[in-house]
Parts: sequence; structure tokens; C-alpha cells
Amino acid sequence: MPQFSLTVNNNKYDVDAPADMPLLWVLRDLLNMTGTKYGCGVASCGVCSVIIDGNPVFSCQRTVGSCVNKKIITIEGLSTDGSHPVQKAWEQAGVPQCGYCQPGQMMQVVAMLEKNKRPSEETIDQVMNNVLCRCGTYHRIRKAIHLAIDSLNS
Ligand code: FES
Ligand code: FES
Repeated sequence: MPQFSLTVNNNKYDVDAPADMPLLWVLRDLLNMTGTKYGCGVASCGVCSVIIDGNPVFSCQRTVGSCVNKKIITIEGLSTDGSHPVQKAWEQAGVPQCGYCQPGQMMQVVAMLEKNKRPSEETIDQVMNNVLCRCGTYHRIRKAIHLAIDSLNS
């Protein structure tokens, strides 16, 4: 099997995998980074979101072969102690119910705020549309996004 060198959360990893293996499986099954979740596998739910070179990406839709020489950030890469402003805002707003969609939600929000620390409501709506939550935590997600924005701009 071909070997690919990946940069995930600022660390280098060599993985043996078919070139068309989805990044999601590489993260979860080969690198044991199980924070990134599988929902649909067909780009419909967004719970598998990670950040690649600053952009939010559905990891079920990216092959390992396309991720070489890219900078991949997963939920594990935000902080080791929950101190990232988005993680703190999520905790403060008590967002998660079952929690399954929350890594994907947070990665979408982190990518948005890294590009724009004062996003419009329209931009926030667009980002929130990218990830589905069966538990319906949208109201709290919006509250947490605003807490994170306040924190980043204070
Ligand atoms: S698992 Fe990737 S979009 Fe649903
Ligand atoms: S918190 Fe349960 S799916 Fe979103």
C-alpha cells in the first residue's frame, strides 16, 4: 500500500493507505483521532468537518492522497485542555446534548472566525447550515458563536 505523509494538528504522520481512502477513516481508524465523527458519508451532514489549509472541509469527501502537503486541523488540535475560545464558549453556553455533531460544528466555527473575527449574521447562518444537529442545539450554538466573537474581540 502507498505511504502518505500527513500533517495533522502540527504533527507529521506516515500512514499506509489506499490513495482513495477518505481522510475521515485515516483520522479515525489509522491515527486514532476519533473526535471527528462519521454521520452520512455523502456530504449531507457536516459532522465530519475538519480544517484543511484554513478552510472547513468534509473529511468524508477528501481522499488521503489529496491531503499530502496540506495542514489538517481536527478537533483534537484546538487545544489539549479545552482552552480554545470556541471550546470555552461552547462550555459556557452549555451547547451539547448528545454531543455527536459538536466537533463538526466547532470546526466550522473555528474556520469562520479565523478568517473573520466579526462575521455577519448571514455568514453565521451559512456556517450553521453546514452541519446538522439531530438534537436541535442551534439556539445554543448561535449563543456560543456570539460568546466566542465577544471573547475574540475583547
Ligand atoms: S459524514 Fe461527512 S458530511 Fe456527513
Ligand atoms: S448535539 Fe446531538 S446531534 Fe447535535
